[in-house]
Amino acid sequence: MKDLTPNKADLDPIEIASIDEIRSLQLERLKWSLRHAYDNVPMYKKRFDEAGVHPDDLQQLSDLAKFPFTYKNDLRDNYPFGLFAVPREQIMRIHASSGTTGKATVVGYTAGDINNWADLTARSLRAAGLRKGDMIHNAYGYGLFTGGLGAHYGIERLGATVVPMGGGQTEKQVGLITDFKPDGIMVTPSYMLNILEQYHKKGMDPRESSLSVGVFGAEPWTDAMRKEVEAAFDMHAVDIYGLSEIMGPGVANECVETKDGPVIWEDHFLPEIIDPVTGEVLPDGEMGELVFTTITKEGLPMIRYRTRDLTRLLPGTARSMRRMEKITGRSDDMMILRGVNVFPTQIEEQVMATGGLAPHFQIELYKAGRMDGMRVFVEADVGASDELSKKAAARMLTKHIKDMVGVSTEVIVGEPGSVERSQGKAKRVVDNRDKE
Ligand code: DLL
Repeated sequence: MKDLTPNKADLDPIEIASIDEIRSLQLERLKWSLRHAYDNVPMYKKRFDEAGVHPDDLQQLSDLAKFPFTYKNDLRDNYPFGLFAVPREQIMRIHASSGTTGKATVVGYTAGDINNWADLTARSLRAAGLRKGDMIHNAYGYGLFTGGLGAHYGIERLGATVVPMGGGQTEKQVGLITDFKPDGIMVTPSYMLNILEQYHKKGMDPRESSLSVGVFGAEPWTDAMRKEVEAAFDMHAVDIYGLSEIMGPGVANECVETKDGPVIWEDHFLPEIIDPVTGEVLPDGEMGELVFTTITKEGLPMIRYRTRDLTRLLPGTARSMRRMEKITGRSDDMMILRGVNVFPTQIEEQVMATGGLAPHFQIELYKAGRMDGMRVFVEADVGASDELSKKAAARMLTKHIKDMVGVSTEVIVGEPGSVERSQGKAKRVVDNRDKE
């Protein structure tokens, strides 16, 4: 793989500024953001008043802990535009996430927000090893989802050529990558596996492709998956993190030279880690729920937004700003089986570590008497789909999950192609507990 470490001179100076400089910029911007939310969003005024806090009470960054949290439900309760802090006429763009239950979560951006977003996504791509003049194939979905357009504007801002492919049509994706020869690809990691599969179906060698970087995010993925994709394509696989409520893709991005967890762009977003049960702020290094406060956002300021993503904050390495550990779990995704907490990424690791299996999987939860049971659907690798190999792989995976994760599961190894494929975020868990 090529060394793609960016030139220091090409970075935004704040990325490598001193911690003092970053903290003082954050304090100044945080004061503005609290005031902006309090003065312009009735919900924040009410919440702050009820909690007996006022934006003037923030003298230092740690004072933020006195302020109340904001939850996903607050966006739903104020559907569609109730949390916007500027008149609707000043909102330049809307995005929304469908959500599996209830109303969509709607977010809005001013022209200034869109401008910052493009800058930060361009910064993210630079961190990933891409640069001006490169060509980037964008397979994140366009539309209400923030992935497609968020990536698109960042690619243009970087000065790269964008191929606005969007999700789906896997055969066409591979055709365009072959013909146009892009340097980078932006896509969910699970969809990248579908693209990989298409290379194999066509009898093409993915290592011969022009791709030198994949910028993967929008869903949890493991280092085991990183190794698999890097080896298959002979390219760097880098993690991009974000969420619609805070901005979209590009809230944090991994550096290609270290690949040690996404760097949080702290000049725009202030992270905290809290105990998800008590709400207490935890010191850096401890595992808990990630909470973000936006400090420059005009359209939709978010104060102490509970992401439900579980991670820890780590000190800066390639940049001065703090990193987050690669997200391997979301409190929404946590399954509890006979008292053991299990995340889908733990199953992913074991699937990757078992020979004879393709990297696609889906988990089914069901009721077994009063207990919850788990079935793991995987599929045989092409060339290992005879009955004997499938049985052996099922036995191995069951054992790996029992030994490494600590739970008993039923493993079903199907034919190649039998596990449902996604076009964007993979649906890892199907909950049938109320169906049996
Ligand atoms: O998925 C934004 C995005 C688009 C990020 C493209 C990266 C690339 P939402 O649809 O609002 O926004 O979903 C946000 O997805 O809270 C995490 O649970 C999860 N997520 C996003 N990026 C990562 C990642 C976009 N790199 C939710 N690793 C977040 C793990 C991720 N989970």
